Amino acid sequence: MTRTTLIKGGLVITAAEEMPADVLIEDGRIAAIAAQNSALAASFSADRTLDATGRYVVPGGVDAHTHMDFPFGGTFSSDDFETGTRAAAWGGTTTIVDFAVQTKGHALREGLDQWHAKADGRCAVDYAFHMILSDVNEGTLKEMDALVEEGVTSFKMFMAYPGVFYSDDGQILRAMQRTAANGGLTMMHAENGIAIDVLVEQALAAGRTDPRHHGEVRKALLEAEATHRAIQLARVAGSPLYVVHVSASEAVEQLAAARGMDLPVFGETCPQYLYLSTDNLAEPDFGGAKYVCSTPLRPREHQAALWRALRTDDLQVVSTDHCPFCFTGQKELGRGDFSKIPNGMPGVEHRMDLLHQAVVEGNLTRRRWIDLACASPARMFGLYPKKGTLAPGADADIVIYDPHAQQTLSAETHHMNVDYSAYEGKRVTGRVETVLSRGEPVVERGDYTGRAGHGSYVPRGICQLLG
Ligand code: URP
Ligand code: ZN
Ligand code: ZN
Ligand code: ZN
Repeated sequence: MTRTTLIKGGLVITAAEEMPADVLIEDGRIAAIAAQNSALAASFSADRTLDATGRYVVPGGVDAHTHMDFPFGGTFSSDDFETGTRAAAWGGTTTIVDFAVQTKGHALREGLDQWHAKADGRCAVDYAFHMILSDVNEGTLKEMDALVEEGVTSFKMFMAYPGVFYSDDGQILRAMQRTAANGGLTMMHAENGIAIDVLVEQALAAGRTDPRHHGEVRKALLEAEATHRAIQLARVAGSPLYVVHVSASEAVEQLAAARGMDLPVFGETCPQYLYLSTDNLAEPDFGGAKYVCSTPLRPREHQAALWRALRTDDLQVVSTDHCPFCFTGQKELGRGDFSKIPNGMPGVEHRMDLLHQAVVEGNLTRRRWIDLACASPARMFGLYPKKGTLAPGADADIVIYDPHAQQTLSAETHHMNVDYSAYEGKRVTGRVETVLSRGEPVVERGDYTGRAGHGSYVPRGICQLLG
């Protein structure tokens, strides 16, 4: 096995700086980084050298929101940990943080054990877990402390999906009080699910059953209302808050106002909200089902607010919320009733490229690209600087990225286990060329060289963006 690797000739980009530099890797970690042509760089020697001339050398991506093998609406997301992390690797993501699920009436520990059993020995890249709370009771609250201690430091609750994952305001407040005390981070799916269910019922009764009505009933104002409520509950509890999959400009306004008051409130959005819209939900012949996710895609007018918030740091992270369901046999469960379409979209493979496309189009700087995709999620979820940056001592999770290559995204060529692409035919500039995970090549000049079981479980620390 290669012990030392040298990446030579590339432009090293982190969230903090850019410089032409060579990177020396020893035993899976970055040993040194030196400016090209410096005496230090000249002293580097290694068993193997990768030429990165004309390429970017960037940290492996950290996707802080995935759902592999996730139960929803009577089916399971179509990527398991093996196929999903392989697709992640292809796309330059070397760490995922997936959601273990507590089922109602059961302990957090049981859910966590199940997710370890799903993932362990199958992953191509490193992985960690958040915990979904579906049943906040005395037992759950006690268990949260133990999970934080062992590296599951964030807890997602749902203001949506009554009867499934839903927590009421009292449960949310109690869990937030617990995270205020134990250092955990509350993650919130902020949509008013009680009100949405009324609108769903009314839409279906009126014969409005097509996928586009999914977007219409899950109103932006009901995302904003829930976001506002979550912020106030977090204030009362004295806890930090991270709002997942933000899509509505009105919700962004709530986050920006809270941050303007110096509250520890954070948010993420996802590429689908930046590039897709309700136009996709209206695609004919039930095609809109491919784009059914929650929060839903919004009218295009919302996108400018999301891009702006990514630039101003009112949103800190771009994750994928990768939760694929095949069109055939899965999305089709909701023909004639949009509320039965399993919620979620594929995307784990394309996040680095779609954010690089934002650099190409002038929406983000190169450093902000790396911040949003690598450094900031690593800091948010207690993985930094092991993950999310290039620095001596960090894991050698490294992407050699060709910023000039052209590619067309398509289900014909992607590696996710799903029978459609949400970005079918989209042309992007830039492409992952080589990916190292802890120094091991998992993608090499466009060939997959990884293996199931290379990826390790990573216990996390607490959020590093507080105080
Ligand atoms: O539609 C979505 N987002 N599916 C995954 C579950 C969730 O709410 O994140
Ligand atoms: Zn049980
Ligand atoms: Zn959610
Ligand atoms: Zn999700």
